[in-house]
Amino acid sequence: MKYSRRQFVKVGGLATTSLLFNGVWNLNYPQKLKGVSEPKVIYTWDYGPVPGKTAMALINEGKSSLDAIEAGIKIIEADPNVLSVGYGGLPDAEGKVTLDASVMDWNGNAGAVAFLQNIKHPVSVARLVMEKTPHVLLVGEGAFEFAIENGFKAENLLTNKAKERWEKWLKFKKFKDRNHDTIGMLAIDKQGNLSGAVSTSGWAFKVHGRVGDSPIIGAGLYVDNKVGGAASTGLGELAIKTAGSFLVVEKMREGYSPTEACKIAVERSKKYQKKAHHQICYIAINKDGEVGGYSFLDGFAYTVGNRRRMRLKKAPYLL
Ligand code: GLY
Repeated sequence: MKYSRRQFVKVGGLATTSLLFNGVWNLNYPQKLKGVSEPKVIYTWDYGPVPGKTAMALINEGKSSLDAIEAGIKIIEADPNVLSVGYGGLPDAEGKVTLDASVMDWNGNAGAVAFLQNIKHPVSVARLVMEKTPHVLLVGEGAFEFAIENGFKAENLLTNKAKERWEKWLKFKKFKDRNHDTIGMLAIDKQGNLSGAVSTSGWAFKVHGRVGDSPIIGAGLYVDNKVGGAASTGLGELAIKTAGSFLVVEKMREGYSPTEACKIAVERSKKYQKKAHHQICYIAINKDGEVGGYSFLDGFAYTVGNRRRMRLKKAPYLL
């Protein structure tokens, strides 16, 4: 095994033997990544197996990782019982449901929408931004008009359940900053191509106009087909300040495992952590299909699956 000088310096400061042989940090990664993985999917939180099974079924049919992920995320966007994504998402301080989403594919193409209202599937609009415009991000009214022009229909996304929660919040107006259960999904298809996407209604009862990390490429999502992909959930401001998902992918490029790379990004956000209960979490997959996740606080889980089964995994955490 040959090391560059930089790798030697890094190794010198660490408990070299255990790190090299326990498989947690593999300093020879860029050379060792074979880029061969069976199709696989990973997504944030416990949204059940259906989004993953839907994505894997499409991949099995030969569809791309992007097609698969979009279909998986749309299930959650359409679910009125999910209070943090799409239809049924909790509104902002003015009672408006405003949505953020992004997609990134194996060619490095990216598309996103932010502060989008009255459109149930922001992930699909984000994909169209990527495919039909020379831009990466459309926001607000412009994003809405673009969606309508492309055949999406305008609909009310504020369910009675979400409205009741907002009305209750209005009485005290205390920001509860714990509702950030963004769905972020990453997948590898039969061609070995990686894609990722995220979708969220963001911070419940946020200031009208607030945009989180999800539509910011590099913060809420990043994919590099040679290395891997990452997505974040939790307090978006933390992922924006640290360019968190980009950081995770860059750390995997340097040779860290997906879990270690996610841990580094979580650690990096610590200095911006204003309140002890502020959560930030990452999931990642590398080109060999190894997956991982890590969170700042206890309580984060992610789902990982292949063509045979989906499994919910509890993520390790910092505090
Ligand atoms: N991570 C989602 C948000 O903060 O909006």
